[in-house]
Amino acid sequence: MALTGAVTEDDLVAQHSPLMSPLVWDLAHIANQEELWLVREAGGRPGLRPDLDHLYDAFRTPRADRPALPLLGPAEARAYVAEVRSQTLEVLAAADTSPDQQERLLADGFVFGMLAQHEQQHDETMLATHQLRQGPPVLDAPEPPQAPADAAALPPEVLVPGGPFTMGTSTEAWALDNELPAHTVDVPAFWLDTTPVTNGAYLEFIAAGGYRDPAWWTPEGWRHVQEEGLEAPQFWSRDGETWVRRRFGHVEPVPADEPVLHVCWYEADAYARWAGRRLPTESEWEKAARHDPAGGRSRRYPWGDADPGPEHANLGQRHLRPAPAGSYPAGAAPSGARQLIGDVWEWTASDFAPYPGFEAFPYKEYSEVFFGPEYKVLRGGAFGVDEVASRATFRNWDYPIRRQIFAGFRTARDAGPGEGAAAEHTRRPGGEGA
Ligand SMILES: [Fe+2]
Repeated sequence: MALTGAVTEDDLVAQHSPLMSPLVWDLAHIANQEELWLVREAGGRPGLRPDLDHLYDAFRTPRADRPALPLLGPAEARAYVAEVRSQTLEVLAAADTSPDQQERLLADGFVFGMLAQHEQQHDETMLATHQLRQGPPVLDAPEPPQAPADAAALPPEVLVPGGPFTMGTSTEAWALDNELPAHTVDVPAFWLDTTPVTNGAYLEFIAAGGYRDPAWWTPEGWRHVQEEGLEAPQFWSRDGETWVRRRFGHVEPVPADEPVLHVCWYEADAYARWAGRRLPTESEWEKAARHDPAGGRSRRYPWGDADPGPEHANLGQRHLRPAPAGSYPAGAAPSGARQLIGDVWEWTASDFAPYPGFEAFPYKEYSEVFFGPEYKVLRGGAFGVDEVASRATFRNWDYPIRRQIFAGFRTARDAGPGEGAAAEHTRRPGGEGA
C-alpha cells in the first residue's frame, strides 16, 4: 500500500520500463494469487473473480504486454485486494494449520507462508519499478546504521573449511520447493570476501579499463557489453570527474564504502576475473552462510537459527540502500563473513538447477520451468527483501544480463594445499536443526 500510495493514479497504470509491470498490475496480481491459492484451493471457496485469472497469470501475459490488457484500475484493484484479504482472514481463522494436517497446503500454514512470500517478492519487484521510474523522489526511509568501528580493519577475506555440509532444507516449514530437500554436499576449503564488493573497489575496475578489455569477460559477456555500451553499473553517470548515481529519484555521489549494486552477472564475473578471483558457487555461498563448524550442522542463518532482527541484517525496505561494507557484526557467519543476508543479492557462479530429489510444489511454474543454464542463482536477499522471504536456503535466479534487480556480489578463491582442511573431512555433517 505504501508503494502504490506514493504515486499518482497515472503513475500506477504507467509502464516505467518494458521489464516491469504497471504497479497496479502487481497490486491486483497479489490479490489474485491469494484468491487462487488460499481462498479457492486451500479454503475450498468459489472465490471472487475467477474471470480475472487470465489477466493476472504471469505466464500467460508477458510483462511488456500487461499495459495493453483491460486491467482493473487503481480503485478497483484496491477494492479487490480488500475483498480477497477479508475472505483470506476468514479461511485462516477456520483452518487447521497444524503440522500434522494432511492437506500439504495447510500443514504448518504453508499456503499462508507461500503467499506472504509471494506478496513480499512483488513488493521487492515494485520497489525495483520505483527505482526505474523517472521523476522526483516519492519514497523515504531512514539511513542505515553507520559502519561499525572495526569495519575498516576487517580481513579482506575469510577461510571456509573444507568438508561436507547439509545444503537445502527438509525442516523449514515455509521453504519453497526449490530449497528442498536437505542433502549432503562436499565443499573443498575456499576463501570468501568478508563483505560484498564495494563501489570503491568496483571503481578501480572501471578506472583500470575493465569495461574495455575483453580479457576479463566471457565471450557472451563481452558481446553484451559491446552491444549495450556498458561502462558502469546501471543508474550511474559521470558528473565531471566524479561518478554519481540515481537512487529512487535522488542523484548523489557514489558512496565508496557501500556494496556495489545494479550490476549484471557478466559484470560481477568480469570483476572477479580482473581481481584474480572468481564468483563463489551456490554451494560455497550456502556453506559460508549456514554451516557451523563448531556445532557440525547447518543453521537457518549465518548468525544461528533466530529470525532476522534489525541488528542482524538490512532487510524489509527499512532502509532504501545497502549499509556500508562491514556493517551488522551481530549477523556475521562463524567464518567472520558479514552481510551474507540482506543489503544486496549476491550473484553466484552457478546455474539454477534442482536439488537431488526435487519435487514441484504446489505448481511447476514456481521453479521447475526455470531450471537450466540460462539462469544464474543469486543468494542472500537485499534491503528490498522482507524477512519472510529471507533464509540462508532461499534461492533467487535471473538472466545474466539483468541489472534492475538489487544485486551485487562477493568473490572467492580456492584454498591452498593444507589450508582449511582441518578435521572436518573425518566428520559427517550433522544435518539441520538442533
Ligand atoms: Fe507473482
